[in-house]
Amino acid sequence: MLKVSGLKKTYITGTFHKCRVHAVNDVSFHITKGQTFGIVGESGCGKSTLGKCVLRLTEPTEGKIIFNGTEITSLDKESLRSIRPKMQMIFQDPDSSLNPRKTLGQSIAEPLKISEIETGRISEKVEELVRHVGLLPEHIDRYPHQLSGGQNQRAVLARALALEPVFIVADEPTASLDVSVQAQILNLLKDLKHEYGLTMLFISHDLELMRHMCDRIAVMYMGKIVEIASVENIFHSPMHPFTRLLLNENENDSEEISCASGISNICCYYNNCPLKTGKCAHDIPYLTEHMQEHFVACHNIKSMHIIEND
Ligand SMILES: Nc1ncnc2c1ncn2[C@@H]1O[C@H](COP(=O)(O)OP(=O)(O)OP(=O)(O)O)[C@@H](O)[C@H]1O
Ligand SMILES: [Mg+2]
Repeated sequence: MLKVSGLKKTYITGTFHKCRVHAVNDVSFHITKGQTFGIVGESGCGKSTLGKCVLRLTEPTEGKIIFNGTEITSLDKESLRSIRPKMQMIFQDPDSSLNPRKTLGQSIAEPLKISEIETGRISEKVEELVRHVGLLPEHIDRYPHQLSGGQNQRAVLARALALEPVFIVADEPTASLDVSVQAQILNLLKDLKHEYGLTMLFISHDLELMRHMCDRIAVMYMGKIVEIASVENIFHSPMHPFTRLLLNENENDSEEISCASGISNICCYYNNCPLKTGKCAHDIPYLTEHMQEHFVACHNIKSMHIIEND
């Protein structure tokens, strides 16, 4: 369904002192149809940038994205517009996704107006979508401020589903909601995914959420993917030292970790790595398949097993 290779996004910031930020730095992965692929990592590691690049909501600096057999990186605006309905993004904060001056019904109807659906059928379709995401018909005429965060996020889901997408990027879709509502929205997302046969890129900084939602997980660190594996392998046999740190975060106070520069030949995790050797300072480790379907970017995986046995 989706194949991403060598994706890079570099931002140039600063007025006097120009600075390059390698938000996404040479990222490759694929998602098979019907799968939920998770991206996990700390704040600022490039998750949202990656999600937006994949849908070309942000222009990638380099790399290829193939969606359903079409290379979308080279599509012009017109052709992109024709496949856009099939790819949708859900952001973390429903307040910024919904227009405060429009009722939920108006917001959900918006994508339908530019689609081929007959005008007379729009309100019927809105009502169907509203029910589908667990809202009531009476919510249709309310404004976002008259509803809860959870209800608004349901409306965001309804709008995303309006054009029957096949692929959804969900960027921390429950981060702004109360804990009690988070599980409801995640379960809804899971149900909708099965019902619509969606393929999903699910972004979060919370590994526990990932366990609940994903089939495979990529761990990101400073713009790079350091490990990709099935949920089971990430939780039961994590290999990269950063993945291990993430898994221990709930138990220990998280360690302070510092950043290596993204430009040189140094491994992105060098400054913090308990396993580093001289090689890591001048030879970037690439994602390599260490076990079946389990990819890790680390030169010292073998020594990790030795440490474990000691
Ligand atoms: N428009 C922009 N201009 C310049 N730098 C940017 C821009 N957007 C993001 N960045 C930088 O790119 C890096 C990655 O940002 P991104 O928002 O993708 O991180 P994230 O992993 O989604 O973080 P969070 O978990 O906090 O949402 C950060 O260092 C950020 O400051
Ligand atoms: Mg983000």
